[in-house]
Amino acid sequence: MGAAGRSTAAAPRADRRAGTSRQRRGGAGLVVLKGTCSYVSAVTVGFLLLLGVCLLYLPDPLALRPPAAEDGGEVTLLIWRRPFGRHRALPDCLERFGIGGCTLTYEGSAYPRADAVIVHHRDVATGADALPPEPRPFAQKWIWMNYESPTHTPRLWQFEDVFNLTLSYRADSDIFLPYGYLVPRKGGTDVVQNRFAQPLRAASRSRLVRPRLLAWVISNWSESHARVSFYHQLRRYVQVDVFGRSGHPVPGDGVGGSVVRLVGRYQFYLALENSQHTDYITEKLWNAVRAGAVPVVLGPSRQNYERFLPPEAFIHVDDFASVRGLARYLLMLRREPARLRKHLDWREAYSVYQPSFWSDHYCAACRAVRRTRGRTDVVKDLTRWFHV
Ligand SMILES: *[C@@H]1O[C@H](CO)[C@@H](O)[C@H](O)[C@H]1NC(C)=O
Ligand SMILES: *[C@@H]1O[C@H](CO)[C@@H](O)[C@H](O)[C@H]1NC(C)=O
Repeated sequence: MGAAGRSTAAAPRADRRAGTSRQRRGGAGLVVLKGTCSYVSAVTVGFLLLLGVCLLYLPDPLALRPPAAEDGGEVTLLIWRRPFGRHRALPDCLERFGIGGCTLTYEGSAYPRADAVIVHHRDVATGADALPPEPRPFAQKWIWMNYESPTHTPRLWQFEDVFNLTLSYRADSDIFLPYGYLVPRKGGTDVVQNRFAQPLRAASRSRLVRPRLLAWVISNWSESHARVSFYHQLRRYVQVDVFGRSGHPVPGDGVGGSVVRLVGRYQFYLALENSQHTDYITEKLWNAVRAGAVPVVLGPSRQNYERFLPPEAFIHVDDFASVRGLARYLLMLRREPARLRKHLDWREAYSVYQPSFWSDHYCAACRAVRRTRGRTDVVKDLTRWFHV
């Protein structure tokens, strides 16, 4: 357990940030995690038990906190441009997450008085939008927001020493919000669970073995992706039902809910990321979890996935010496329900939450802006950090 508590973790971080060293980048997510855990364990006797629980999952970034933690006044957050040029209604953070005092706006006229400005990387990197004008108002923070993997994040080098905070799926971002996460049903002692999290259920005896074996929904088919060569090999051994732009159409509207409904008929789901990077675990995995299909994952390492999920909650392609071995394992599980059950029984202890783009991100940012008020933060080495 790290010695740093929640409150002390922030201050030295700011100093280091403004200084030359950025080595701390790699471990910041863990600092958050350990900070939460050591705080809890200080007041709890079941230390080892908690240690196990704390290391199993990352903290709920949108957990409701006691009102005292939200003190510090009003925050005006300017959404510099609509991500991907699409209009979305702005959320009420107080109503949704109990985060009060947030004024969110798309109005450029708020720029001179905004406490912070959110910039979506993709849009400024492709030239669709320009950065806000310099000089920036005193003490204003610019937030770099990005949900693409490094492989699909162009021209990072243009943005060295421009931003003050990072907002991404990376656990060591200043504002960390993954594509999805689990929340233990029992809940912690100091937080109220996000009420939008969806409880998971273990499969009943009669629903344990599902009629269909394995599905894959794929929109961007590229022969250069590792996932496509994996698929070519896998289909030699087992039936894979392919949906999406490159296969059968997904019944329904093709987004979120209808994917979950479709995958709900399958035993296993291929949650294959388009590229393999630290913490880059997308909705593909969380849709499968919601659907009660066991995800077969290709992405970062097993160890990385285990920061988000119990080890038995997924099957990692690296668990097997060959694709054939993996295929055999899937077929075997269907013949041995007791072993299949091990991949599903963990569900009863958790709820799952998939943050909605981009309202949840704005609310998380608002909270972070308040927390870091009066502090100077500069994001140095954006490229080097993000490409680790
Ligand atoms: C699809 O994949 C290719 C190859 O990696 C990439 O260049 C392209 O940007 C991707 N398209 C989308 C819409 O993600
Ligand atoms: C934000 O970053 C800019 C550019 O590096 C820096 O000049 C400014 O002092 C930072 N502001 C705050 C409030 O952290």
